[in-house]
Amino acid sequence: MQKHYKLSIAGVDFNDPYTFRTPTVKDGKAIWQLIKDTQVLDLNSSYSYLLWADQFSETSIVVVEGTKIVGFVSGFIQPKAQDTLFIWQVAVDESTRGKRLASRMLLAIVQSDACRNIQYLEATVTPSNMPSIKLFKGLARDLKTECTITDGYTEDLFPGGGHEAEKLFRIGPF
Ligand SMILES: CC(C)(COP(=O)(O)OP(=O)(O)OC[C@H]1O[C@@H](n2cnc3c(N)ncnc32)[C@H](O)[C@@H]1OP(=O)(O)O)[C@@H](O)C(=O)NCCC(=O)NCCS
Repeated sequence: MQKHYKLSIAGVDFNDPYTFRTPTVKDGKAIWQLIKDTQVLDLNSSYSYLLWADQFSETSIVVVEGTKIVGFVSGFIQPKAQDTLFIWQVAVDESTRGKRLASRMLLAIVQSDACRNIQYLEATVTPSNMPSIKLFKGLARDLKTECTITDGYTEDLFPGGGHEAEKLFRIGPF
C-alpha cells in the first residue's frame, strides 16, 4: 500500500506539483527507466528495482509529477547497524533537477516513522560526482550535523578495473 510522506521542511513550497510517496511494485518499471536515463548511475536489473519497490518501500521514496515518476531514492536500514540508514541510489529526472527534490526525498525518509530510531545516514559517492557530494554535504548542513568521509569501496574491489572508487559518507548523529 502507498504511504504519502508528510514533509515538514522549512522553505518547501507546498503548492508545487510534486507528490512524495513510498514506491510500490508497479513503480519498478518506471524506476528502472529513470535510473537508466541518468546515464551515470549503475543500472541494475529490472528485477532488482521491482524487488526494491516492493520489499524496501518503507525506507525508499518516489516523487511523482502528474503520472510521471521524476525522483527516486532507495534506502534500507542496515542489518548490522539498526541506527543507520543506508542510501543506495538517488535519481532525479533531468527536467526537474535543481528544485531540491533530491534533498527533500532524503529529508522525508529520515523524518519518516520507519526511521524513528535512525541516528546516522550513510551513502557511497564517487569522487567525480559533484552534484552527489553537494547533495550529501548539504543534507548534513540542513540537519545541523557532521558529515565524515572515509574510504568506502576502493577501486580494486570492483571487477575489470572500470569502476571509480566509492567514498563512504556518514552523516549524523541526528
Ligand atoms: C544528484 C541529483 C540526484 C541531485 O538532484 P537535485 O534534485 O537536482 O538536487 P537538489 O536540488 O536537492 O540539490 C542538492 C544540492 O546539490 C547541489 N547541486 C545539485 N545539482 C548540482 C550540480 N549539477 N552541480 C553542482 N551542485 C549541484 C545543489 O546546489 C544543492 O546544494 P545546496 O543545498 O548547497 O544548495 C541529480 O543531479 C541526479 O539525479 N543526478 C544523476 C544521478 C546521480 O548522480 N545520483 C547521485 C548518486 S547516488
